[in-house]
Amino acid sequence: MVNLGVLVSGSGSNLQAIIDNIEAGRLDSQIKIVISNVPNVFALERAKKHGIPSLVISHKGFKRREDFDQKIVQALQRQEVELVILAGYMRVVTSVLLRAFPMRVMNIHPALLPSFPGTHVWQAEVDYGVKFAGCTVHFVDEGTDTGPIIIQAVVPVYDSDTAETLNARILKQEHKIFSQAIQLYAEGRLETQGRRVLAKGFPQAPDSFMINPPVKIFDR
Ligand code: GRF
Repeated sequence: MVNLGVLVSGSGSNLQAIIDNIEAGRLDSQIKIVISNVPNVFALERAKKHGIPSLVISHKGFKRREDFDQKIVQALQRQEVELVILAGYMRVVTSVLLRAFPMRVMNIHPALLPSFPGTHVWQAEVDYGVKFAGCTVHFVDEGTDTGPIIIQAVVPVYDSDTAETLNARILKQEHKIFSQAIQLYAEGRLETQGRRVLAKGFPQAPDSFMINPPVKIFDR
């Protein structure tokens, strides 16, 4: 059973997916604390509804990011958190958090990293004209969206897509792969070799492919 601390800044749909999987007995974890850096966000409502302790620690009163992170670390350690989950947490974390939880901070990013790091990625993907998009769960390092990749999901991008429709398609997959990454951690399967994270003893994706737009005339 892994003690999770979940950091949020917004709606918390990823938090909800994790809560649902825990409650359904699919995830060998418990959420010890939900911390938001923004007051009154819906993620806090979700925690309350499920009887999960929550805290607001606003970043606004802090001059240095490190001091803010120190407060977060204290709150996490007080609850004996082992694994820190950034679920729509819109702050860059510092070495203060990363040193307290080495290779124990996971983030979800709504793109196929290393493509489209940063924010506003769905519009950027539509504008760029990529035919596939997706999401990534990775361990957090000191860069922005640069840490070792644990799991990714791919979705097609359609000609009719807007940032909103693409976001919705990707979000559905986020809700699956974040829990999967946590469960792989809980089962002790994640082995890091440099940048590469291996899921020991876990099946890999079949040797298949997707083409978008799909091939018709050369199909045989
Ligand atoms: C998700 O798209 C996630 O990838 C990004 O922020 C969004 C958070 O959504 N990091 P939610 O708060 O979990 O609903």
